[in-house]
Order: sequence, then structure tokens, then C-alpha cells
Amino acid sequence: MKMRAKNERRQAPRAKAKKVDVVYRTSHGRMLVGRIEDALAGAALDSVRGKVNLIFTSPPFPLVYKKKYGNETGDTYLKWLKGLAPQLSEMLADDGSIVIEIGNSWEPGVPVMSTLGLEALLAFKRAANLHLCQHVICHNPARLPSPAQWVNVTRERLSALGCSVRDIHHT
Ligand SMILES: C[S@@+](CC[C@H](N)C(=O)[O-])C[C@H]1O[C@@H](n2cnc3c(N)ncnc32)[C@H](O)[C@@H]1O
Repeated sequence: MKMRAKNERRQAPRAKAKKVDVVYRTSHGRMLVGRIEDALAGAALDSVRGKVNLIFTSPPFPLVYKKKYGNETGDTYLKWLKGLAPQLSEMLADDGSIVIEIGNSWEPGVPVMSTLGLEALLAFKRAANLHLCQHVICHNPARLPSPAQWVNVTRERLSALGCSVRDIHHT
């Protein structure tokens, strides 16, 4: 969860926007379908600029492999997420917050967690001069731990009873 600093609004340059469709509308608001880059760059959100109390988002994750929904990977992912920060920040009211969900990912072929999610989060924060209000870890003991190769086959993980030598890896 992040909270933008008061009086630190940055004006982001406008890119050329593709059309964003309004697919649902009530007296309380509209549901838009399209790419976030287009929604932010076009006029669709002009009426709420500077008035949004909460942006709650689950963007594509920094996965090592591409998913069908078109996630970026590596440094391209970091630049993509960071690039959204100034325009999202512009949407916020002075006491507004952004809640962003970033899933874990793993380095290919080694029992090592990718730090790209953390790096992308910090780049996002810095790009719009945001504050990190809280880091919330989703702890779900009912879910199988992953990746299965390192958890179940080679058992290269912290154990419930403590940390063994093989739990520690040097890069
Ligand atoms: C990690 S998933 C989110 C899943 C969601 N939290 C759920 O539980 O269903 C990322 C979503 O972002 C969408 N997406 C990918 N690129 C996008 C973009 N440029 N703008 C807006 N949405 C995008 C994908 O279609 C996908 O549904």
C-alpha cells in the first residue's frame, strides 16, 4: 500500500492513446475495458484526475516466462511498471493511496527467488515520489509451496524447524 506525498504531484507527459471502451455504467461510475496505458493517456479518466482515493490494482506479474495475457519480463517489466507511476499518481487525491499486488517469481533453473518484483516496486515508488505505507505479505498455508522442483524434489528451502546449510545460497 502506498500513499502519495502531499503537494508532490508530477505532471506526466501524454502519449497517443488507443480507444478505451465503456462497457458498464451506473450512477456511481463506469467500467472501462482496455490497456491501462490508453486509459491514462486518453481523456477517459480526466473527470477523476486528482480525485481518486484508492487505486487497487493487480497488474501483470514480473514472471520469468510470458503469459498469454501479455506480461513483460525482466528490465522491460520494471520500465513498464515504473512508467505507469507518474500518471497513476496524478489520478490520486492528496490523501489517496495505491494498493498494488505483485506476485513472486523465481529465477529459471536455480532455487532462487527473483528480486524483480521488489525492484519494480521500488522503481514505481521513486518514479512518482510515493511513500511505501505498508508491505503486506499474503500468507496462505493452505496453498502448496512452490516451485515444486525446489520445495518437494530437491528440498532447497527453509524447513519448519530451522535453517539448514543447504537452505543458504550464495549468488
Ligand atoms: C496478474 S493478472 C491479474 C489477475 C487478477 N488479479 C485476478 O485475480 O484475476 C494481470 C491482468 O492484467 C491484464 N493486463 C495485461 N496487460 C495489461 C495492460 N497493459 N493494461 C491493463 N490490463 C492488462 C491481464 O489481462 C490480466 O488479466
